[in-house]
Amino acid sequence: MSNRTFTMIKPDATSKGYTGAILDQIIKAGFTVKAMKWIKLSEEQAGLFYDIHRARPFFGELVDFMSSGPIVAAILEKENAVADFRDLIGATNPANAAEGTIRKNFAASIGENAVHGSDSDENAIIEGDFFFSKLERF
Ligand code: CMP
Repeated sequence: MSNRTFTMIKPDATSKGYTGAILDQIIKAGFTVKAMKWIKLSEEQAGLFYDIHRARPFFGELVDFMSSGPIVAAILEKENAVADFRDLIGATNPANAAEGTIRKNFAASIGENAVHGSDSDENAIIEGDFFFSKLERF
């Protein structure tokens, strides 16, 4: 069990002005920010990040959306980080997300679902390494 996970606040949430409220909910839930950046992905970068989904029917839509505006990328620390963060954000489809979760509070649809959270310790490392050099994290 690792104590780190990776998140992105997605373009739907940044464009609606939810960044501060989402970060506030994350920090109040006990996560510490170990790295953070505000960045706009190119289509190529978004495609590389979500390469695992390349064969899925929604891949094109996902890449267009994730490169449509700025995101906030961050590495977060907390005991049991991956599982606890997935509990905090709720189900991928906000229609199925539990009351009080970030996706229930801020997401509009399965495609535009406000936040990303790593699904395993291994992917948390891969995804954090995609965005951050050693100098950019502590
Ligand atoms: P995320 O947790 O970032 O990981 C993959 C993303 O693909 C997911 O959130 C959704 O935003 C998106 N996604 C998953 N299923 C669908 C779908 N059926 N239609 C559109 N986007 C989807």
